[in-house]
Amino acid sequence: MQRLKRTAENNNMPSFQDAPTSSLMDQACAWRRDFHAHPELGYHEHRTSEQVARLLESFGLTVTRGVGGTGVVATLQRGTGPAIGLRADMDALPMQENSGLAHASTHDGCMHACGHDGHTTVLLATAQHLCEATDFTGTVHFIFQPAEETGAGARRMIEDGLFEQFPMQAVYGLHNWPGLRQGSLAVNPGAMMASQDTFNILIQGSGSHAAMPENGIDPIVVATQLVSALQTIVSRRISPLDAAVLSVTMIEAGTAYNVIPHTATIRGTVRCLSRDVRSRIQEMIATMVNTLPSAFGATGTVAFREGYPVTQNDPACAERVRDVAASILGAENVRWDTRASMASEDFAYMLQSCPGAYFWLGADGAEASRPLHHPAYDFNDALIPVGVRLFCGILKSYQAASVHQT
Ligand code: NI
Repeated sequence: MQRLKRTAENNNMPSFQDAPTSSLMDQACAWRRDFHAHPELGYHEHRTSEQVARLLESFGLTVTRGVGGTGVVATLQRGTGPAIGLRADMDALPMQENSGLAHASTHDGCMHACGHDGHTTVLLATAQHLCEATDFTGTVHFIFQPAEETGAGARRMIEDGLFEQFPMQAVYGLHNWPGLRQGSLAVNPGAMMASQDTFNILIQGSGSHAAMPENGIDPIVVATQLVSALQTIVSRRISPLDAAVLSVTMIEAGTAYNVIPHTATIRGTVRCLSRDVRSRIQEMIATMVNTLPSAFGATGTVAFREGYPVTQNDPACAERVRDVAASILGAENVRWDTRASMASEDFAYMLQSCPGAYFWLGADGAEASRPLHHPAYDFNDALIPVGVRLFCGILKSYQAASVHQT
């Protein structure tokens, strides 16, 4: 970077490969703290998305508002070259901040505890940096999505025509990551985050007097058998090398000591790190629920609610991130094929529709960062220039490849 910086200074032409200027970073920190002080929940990011749209317009970009609710997409097109999408999430969490910071949330019961204020800022700063550069060619779609936390804002943007309106060859997103050192990055050639589904099972028995069980069909006994059977799916039917969790978290039945209830319900969640395991587990749950109760004279039905899919990187795109990061941060600061997280992320929907990669940026400074979703969480502003350089490095890699092809 030093060499590149000197070259650009000598030519007096701003290059998008330069480190972002300190004045841009000062401005970006101010945006970030303003977003932090004014957090908004999923699909209610009205102030945030308006600020984002106005800033993007002030950089000279074409801006489309209202993509998937409060989503915003801005496009930079210069000359020829591939079209690449870069994505940030804008929403906050429904929780009370207790950080005591000068820029703490001014909205009661709402805070940026996941650093999406920082993601939004990184992408804005990248947009400004690219707009000011004279040597960028190609097309970038800057995607600011609503409702990552629980509202599947990425899916809504896709349903609203994101990839048809803004065709792109690949899409990239990042998340700040406590537990990784600042200046380091982690990316996998496959899964980064788990799928997250829930299920509701209804056991239909037949109510009776507790002293005369022969007159009914006890759904509680069936339910306990079924819970035991469900535990064999991960332990006996899925390879120990495939990560998956099936947790039964609620059982409800009965109202009195002397009544065998008519029905019982079982609820729980399934997390997986592969699309194949996810669909196989769903099939196995359905088979057990449809067949096991009948051996007891009962019937069972199951309803799945699919949450976010597996956040599954395209291997070639992940390799690109790895190589770009190694050149910018040093190979020793890049974690490749690292342990995935069993939490979920709705960038997964974009990765289902378009090749791309999602990576983690280390958030631990001199002191370890607080965990994500902590009531005193505050995005580490030192990550802003790192994120800008990485996004620009990814774009540069496409530009270099397209020059070679022509
Ligand atoms: Ni997050």
